Amino acid sequence: MKKLTLIFMGIVAIALALSCTSDRLLEETPYEDATTNPDLPDSENSGNNTPDNTSGTDPNAGFITYQADVKPILNQLCVACHNSALKEDGVDLSTYYLAKTQINDIIESMQEEAGEDDLMPPSGRADAAIIQTLISWKTDGLLEGEATPDDQGSGGSNGSYTYTGDISGIIADQCILCHGPNNPAGGYDISTYQKTVDQIGVFIARIDLQTGQAGVMPPAGRMDEAIIQKIKDWVDQGMPE
Ligand code: HEC
Ligand code: HEC
Repeated sequence: MKKLTLIFMGIVAIALALSCTSDRLLEETPYEDATTNPDLPDSENSGNNTPDNTSGTDPNAGFITYQADVKPILNQLCVACHNSALKEDGVDLSTYYLAKTQINDIIESMQEEAGEDDLMPPSGRADAAIIQTLISWKTDGLLEGEATPDDQGSGGSNGSYTYTGDISGIIADQCILCHGPNNPAGGYDISTYQKTVDQIGVFIARIDLQTGQAGVMPPAGRMDEAIIQKIKDWVDQGMPE
């Protein structure tokens, strides 16, 4: 009899634990500060007609999507090292398809213990809310979502940038001295729009290093966060000329 009661209590405890975890998966909506996308669950589907939501009948409203939620996280925390040019450890996380097919490795690497070599990003464990967003993306079905050009940035930017209007000036100030057409440092010439676009992977990787880290560009030290964010936003927006 005693034994049966114990078994019964055990089952109740397990059931309780399970229901807590799944509730957490469904309830936690940790984007308040990560993005300001009006499609997100905050608006609980009633926000479809908010003035700044132009997509109106977005079928993905309420779900975590790559474009709105996951891409900004990966761009901020991972893509500097895991892009098609650098590909640390053979891992490239710079597209929807690549992120989707490697989601288990992504989550696993971010849940390593602090201090483990394999913990990603290497600079330290990401916020629990960020990891939860990736887990929820998986539970929601790894949706791609629509690109929302004005809403991509994690840095609060809401501008749209162009090469001619915003980026070429930064390059002229910060890079051209060494990376012009004549004898460019490291063979890296970014004197035109096309050359910049064609070699953008390694560009982002280098400007995203920390001051003092080998290879940081410009060599004098990491640029202002606002400038780096502007360049990243431009890349997210598809690098308009
Ligand atoms: C500063 C560079 C850097 C950043 C940023 C970075 N990684 Fe890595 N990553 C590495 C290096 C180096 C390795 C290979 C050595 C190792 O495992 O420590 C690696 C290995 C990996 C691996 C394969 C090994 C494993 O643990 O399974 C995965 C997956 C991975 N990273 C995912 C990520 C994710 C996800 C992020 C962002 C949250 C991230 N990385 C951010 C440098 C980086
Ligand atoms: C004072 C000179 C100087 C300035 C300014 C400078 N760089 Fe460099 N850069 C170098 C030198 C030298 C190398 C070659 C050594 C190396 O790879 O670190 C290099 C290499 C690079 C590489 C690696 C090229 C490759 O194919 O591996 C990239 C990318 C790069 N720079 C981007 C930039 C960007 C972007 C800026 C502006 C934000 C910039 N650099 C500003 C001197 C400079």
